[in-house]
Amino acid sequence: MQVIVLWTANTERYSNVMNGLNDTAENLLASIERNETEVAPSSLYAVACIKEGVPFINGAPQNTFVPGLVEFAVQKNVLIAGDDFKSGQTKMKSVLVDFLVGAGIKPTSIVSYNHLGNNDGMNLSAPQTFRSKEISKSNVVDDMVASNSILYKPGEHPDHVVVIKYVPNVGDSKRAMDEYMSEIFMGGHNTISMHNVCEDSLLAAPIILDLVLLAELTSRIQVSRATQRCCWSTARTLAFGFDLGFLCKGIFSVLLICMWPLHAPHPNLPHVHCMHTHWCMQQNFRCRLCSLNAQC
Ligand SMILES: NC(=O)c1ccc[n+]([C@@H]2O[C@H](COP(=O)([O-])OP(=O)(O)OC[C@H]3O[C@@H](n4cnc5c(N)ncnc54)[C@H](O)[C@@H]3O)[C@@H](O)[C@H]2O)c1
Repeated sequence: MQVIVLWTANTERYSNVMNGLNDTAENLLASIERNETEVAPSSLYAVACIKEGVPFINGAPQNTFVPGLVEFAVQKNVLIAGDDFKSGQTKMKSVLVDFLVGAGIKPTSIVSYNHLGNNDGMNLSAPQTFRSKEISKSNVVDDMVASNSILYKPGEHPDHVVVIKYVPNVGDSKRAMDEYMSEIFMGGHNTISMHNVCEDSLLAAPIILDLVLLAELTSRIQVSRATQRCCWSTARTLAFGFDLGFLCKGIFSVLLICMWPLHAPHPNLPHVHCMHTHWCMQQNFRCRLCSLNAQC
């Protein structure tokens, strides 16, 4: 029997990342021994899982995977994936921004308003927990913007704002309103407005099932050193998460392939949000497992 742990408990506040506290595996473990208050409950669960060799997926937006925890997972070669499910607005962004940027339509501002009335909505109304969500959503269009250097100069970026409000009356039926403003031909403007009404939990539940299945599958994969070396010769396989640097036999601990339904695991690790790239990754991943050539 295989155990896989997936965190869907309350959103926690963002943890401070500090030298000597949680910046390395050694410091994080020492901080836990000292019972440091800055170590989040979700990080404690994750460390316990890593010690037991159990894959840990974080569906909530806080930075459970502080640098020391990522290092610990890599040292022990245990799979981790996260943070935060992409179930609503972020999922739409992964598709729409890719399409716009690819079509030469330049998004200049993306503004997202949400209101919801479930327990998560109530938690997110506290500034400390909202900060977790804000940071988790912040880099979601980065790779798509960076993919078109004709539209965007180095360092140029669309304005990106996310607002979440608690409205008990709507319960689990989340309202999401997005405005994408873009620059088009001859300096013209195009504004897309979206209004999405969705049952938040029902969007998340199938993602949870997919992630557990994907984690179980990937935990059974072993990669030879030679294959890892060959895979790393192409940039795309970076996204597969094969690891050469740590010479591990299993797939690289930080499951980037799970970023189709999740946000970024860690700002300093490579991240891919574009939905099209993800479909290709998923397809190529399965082909490689069957010894077939990559399809795209
Ligand atoms: N569509 C979605 O539902 C969606 C999308 C993206 C992210 N998320 C994230 O998933 C998480 C869960 O969402 P939800 O709507 O189910 O939240 P919720 O507040 O309804 O449920 C959280 C549950 O976690 C339990 N809990 C709290 N602290 C715990 C701990 N230390 N150990 C074990 N259990 C604990 C609570 O008792 C509660 O039953 C949130 O962080 C949310 O932001 C949800």
